Amino acid sequence: MSRAADPPRAEAWNGPVGNHWARHQARYDAMPAGVNGALFDAAAVAPGDRVLDVGCGAGATTRIAARPAAPGHAVGVDISAPLLERARASTAAEGVGNAAYECGDAQVHPFPPA
Ligand SMILES: C[S@@+](CC[C@H](N)C(=O)[O-])C[C@H]1O[C@@H](n2cnc3c(N)ncnc32)[C@H](O)[C@@H]1O
Repeated sequence: MSRAADPPRAEAWNGPVGNHWARHQARYDAMPAGVNGALFDAAAVAPGDRVLDVGCGAGATTRIAARPAAPGHAVGVDISAPLLERARASTAAEGVGNAAYECGDAQVHPFPPA
């Protein structure tokens, strides 16, 4: 991971908080349909879109965005290595081929300009 702007936050999400979320991924993954329904209605992701999911966690929201974005793609960025491990595994298991992940603090991560 590139440098963290907020080291205590990075430590929490790479330690107890992130590990708890990773252990209970199924429970948290079930939330987006209800909690994020309004978000995805408003975003109206369409074919060909390129989506950046900031704070993607275990990637549930990235996968939700990636499906309607094809042939575009979704990139999830998160500060938590254990959650990105879950995100990559779930994305492969679900056969979502147009989602990718980067580990970094979104406040300072060196995203390419485009
Ligand atoms: C409440 S979880 C949401 C995960 C996912 N969006 C979902 O709905 O399933 C918030 C996520 O934001 C990440 N996060 C917090 N601060 C961050 C930062 N500065 N840069 C990148 N990710 C961050 C945490 O690691 C955590 O995975």
